[in-house]
Amino acid sequence: MNTVSYAPYKVDKNHILSVAQKAHDNQSSGTSDNKRLALINRIKQLLIQRDAVLISHYYTDPDIQQLTEETGGHVADSLEMARFGNEHPAKTLVVAGVKFMGETAKILNPEKTVLMPDLNAECSLDLECPIQEFSDFCQQHPDRKIVVYSNTSIEVKAKADWVVTSGIALKIIRHLHQQGEQILWAPDKYLGHYIQKETQADMILWPGSCIVHEEFKATELSQLKITHPDAAILVHPESPESVIELADVVGSTSALIKATQTLNNQKFIVATDRGIFYKMQQLSPNKTFMEAPNAGIGATCKSCAHCPWMGLNHLESLEHVLESNCNEIIIDENLRQQAMISINRMMDFSKQQNINMTGKGNA
Ligand code: 13P
Ligand code: SF4
Repeated sequence: MNTVSYAPYKVDKNHILSVAQKAHDNQSSGTSDNKRLALINRIKQLLIQRDAVLISHYYTDPDIQQLTEETGGHVADSLEMARFGNEHPAKTLVVAGVKFMGETAKILNPEKTVLMPDLNAECSLDLECPIQEFSDFCQQHPDRKIVVYSNTSIEVKAKADWVVTSGIALKIIRHLHQQGEQILWAPDKYLGHYIQKETQADMILWPGSCIVHEEFKATELSQLKITHPDAAILVHPESPESVIELADVVGSTSALIKATQTLNNQKFIVATDRGIFYKMQQLSPNKTFMEAPNAGIGATCKSCAHCPWMGLNHLESLEHVLESNCNEIIIDENLRQQAMISINRMMDFSKQQNINMTGKGNA
């Protein structure tokens, strides 16, 4: 893998464990049914009072996804979340996801108030790509097109030529490669390596990784497949190469969900955050979904197939943010305008190619 040699900021394991513990302690499933119902009813009232709409990622708690859909909001992947916010008339967008998703929503919707249940909902890819080190890296490669994944800070997006999501990354890099461009890619080394292999593009990769997807284990996945030979293996491309190699379908969250509907298999082994099972089961109630193994040889199980930062979104934190109108996303206008350029390039590209950016059909 053609990654840079110097060590990036590495997310501290104890920090991850403490976030996971906080998320676990606050889980709405731990509250009584009466309290849960009271919270849901109160949130419904507050959404109307505040002229707010909920926009949630597929990895959030089932309670949050259900409430989002019941109240006319949208459960989607990161870019589709922002686009929905742009089209919806509500004055306030409440983004249940992680910080870069709230920031992207604000970049695209500067006139709206964007709130998040917990501003500490980070992402290891974003944390492992600090702007100063990333700028130094870019300076060392002035001839390369800078392409960054959406899981980055607004500062990193502002530095980039292109922002891409997992649903469209392959097509954009293939396009740039055909134009004769060399690529500087950040921050996910596994996604970057997968794209490099598929497109043969000349890419230098920033060495970041997702703490959730990095944990999936190829040996144990092969063993599970032997026990369930009729199951299709679905893999998010933030996973290691050895896991991707075993996949029947590699794609964004939207693409993996779509595969559960279009493939004839009745069983699926899924290598991504287990929050996605809520939508998969809702769409195909008679099919069987299994988590890809993340334990076994070499496992550290810091995340156990659930993003600890996504876990910070729960009914209590949602009610709190709506009651107190706190946790607003505030961004610098100059940075916003810069970041908007690289995001718009992706949007224009998708329109020209008539690509649905949710990744549907683009696995
Ligand atoms: P998608 O854009 O595929 O929804 O992925 C976002 C993410 O954070 C995956 O870990
Ligand atoms: Fe980031 Fe991984 Fe969490 Fe997605 S699952 S938000 S990539 S840490």
